[in-house]
Amino acid sequence: MKTANACIAAALVLASAGAAAADTADDLARGRYMVLTGHCNNCHTAGYTAKQGDVPEKEWLLGNAVGFRSELGTAYASNLRLTVRSFTEAQWVAYAKGAKPRPPMPWWSVHETSESDLRAMYSFIVSLGAAGQPVPAFVPADREPAPPYEVRRLVR
Ligand code: HEC
Repeated sequence: MKTANACIAAALVLASAGAAAADTADDLARGRYMVLTGHCNNCHTAGYTAKQGDVPEKEWLLGNAVGFRSELGTAYASNLRLTVRSFTEAQWVAYAKGAKPRPPMPWWSVHETSESDLRAMYSFIVSLGAAGQPVPAFVPADREPAPPYEVRRLVR
């Protein structure tokens, strides 16, 4: 009886390990797709819009030292290769569902992203590896940011 239970336990472990491995390959592809179609690179990857997306994957999501200046201050799209991995996957899902970073971060779209897609994004972004530096700190509206920055009017 003991042996039978051990066999069942071993089979379950193998089955779940197999499922996890299959999920990971799918997750990475799905996560990559979500990052591309979620437009994360447009802001979080330096030069991505100027080069119309022609930036190698190893340079993706390293953050953008070109600030976005509005009447609310100057914000810098963060280095997601450093910030996302600082969360556990569960923390990331909770954060992505509730966070409201400053403009022009489109947090309302991220709130709409399904939990499984957020988990896939997490797997993909973490798989890119930790690299680069943190971006400059937010500069409040009453202070002059150092260039480079682009100006975005929020109130029209
Ligand atoms: C239009 C530009 C833009 C796009 C597109 C964009 N972001 Fe951002 N994002 C920003 C800016 C700017 C900040 C910094 C806001 C602040 O300082 O509060 C930011 C902040 C964040 C933060 C909070 C800081 C951190 O690293 O924890 C997360 C998480 C994030 N973005 C994830 C994403 C993801 C994932 C996508 C794609 C689905 C995305 N962003 C698309 C501009 C953008």
